[in-house]
Amino acid sequence: MGAPVVVNNMNTEELQQTTTALMAGDKGLLAMDESLPTCNKRFQEAGIPQTEEYRRKYRQLIVTTPNLGEYISGAILFDETVYQSTDDQVLFMDVLHRAGIIPGIKVDEGTVEMPGHPKEKITRGLDGLTERLNNYYGLGARFAKWRAVITIGEGIPSDENIAANTKLLARYALLCQQADIVPIVEPEVLMDGDHTIERCYEVTEKTIKVLFTQLQAEGVYLPGLILKPNMVIAGKDCPVQKSTDEVATATVNCLLASVPPEVGGVAFLSGGQSPQEAARHLHAMHVKFDDKLPWPLTFSFARALQQPALELWKGKDENVKAAQDMLYFRASMASAARAGQYSVDIDN
Ligand code: 13P
Repeated sequence: MGAPVVVNNMNTEELQQTTTALMAGDKGLLAMDESLPTCNKRFQEAGIPQTEEYRRKYRQLIVTTPNLGEYISGAILFDETVYQSTDDQVLFMDVLHRAGIIPGIKVDEGTVEMPGHPKEKITRGLDGLTERLNNYYGLGARFAKWRAVITIGEGIPSDENIAANTKLLARYALLCQQADIVPIVEPEVLMDGDHTIERCYEVTEKTIKVLFTQLQAEGVYLPGLILKPNMVIAGKDCPVQKSTDEVATATVNCLLASVPPEVGGVAFLSGGQSPQEAARHLHAMHVKFDDKLPWPLTFSFARALQQPALELWKGKDENVKAAQDMLYFRASMASAARAGQYSVDIDN
């Protein structure tokens, strides 16, 4: 064994290995990193008590789902979950490792209104980030996530908002790589609103292009980085919703125009699409474009994997098995989509 390759104060070999493992086979990522307010909101909607113990029970249900590692390569956790254990005192981090699932961690600290831009958001979390990353690495995390939110509306997003959010993403990515942690960079263009698919394309392409300019300026190692983009899709309230083929084509064309080929992987968020829609779109991209894609293209869904299981669970012990079966099934459907082998006939 030679000495590790160290460039820009980072171990590129380890970063590359982690990225390859996360993108392996037909697997994808499970985002289970809902912040306290988001998790509580989902619980409230499903009639589940919003307490730390119920959050622990729910995350236990997820990480102990039998054979989830067949379809899931990595799970993104929230800080609270990193320190939680199963009923028999096994840390969730260890449960995941044993299941062959790499633990990751959300490290941004949520969004706030951008000063001077009341309708736009900026993400917080750079303070003390290196110390937190070193701590998480010691606990077994090998990748991280930072989400920036870009809102489409009247006169927005502004250039200032895109520049500020992507600058923060690039700083975060560099600090991650210097801590031997693979950064997932997530510039989410929201589906909220009545904008057209064309507008989503334009904003997504611009945001990702600016993001890669910033990442390259920071000296981020692109083969050791995963992009987590939105699909290119019309706003939820837009009267014109395009076909599966049109969404798949717009999304892949947008990414081919903006994401450098050396990037380690691309893993979509679901963003409010139903599990079936998200799977159909990913499947169509693979069927039509598989030989044109320079990077692995997979999923990193939260709602499109978890939501049906959460609704079955309802916070009740007697529903755990049914909820786990549903989570496993949704993961198998997302994986089939990545393989270009999904069909509505098998998804029922
Ligand atoms: P959704 O798949 O529910 O959009 O969540 C993905 C995610 O990680 C949001 O940050």
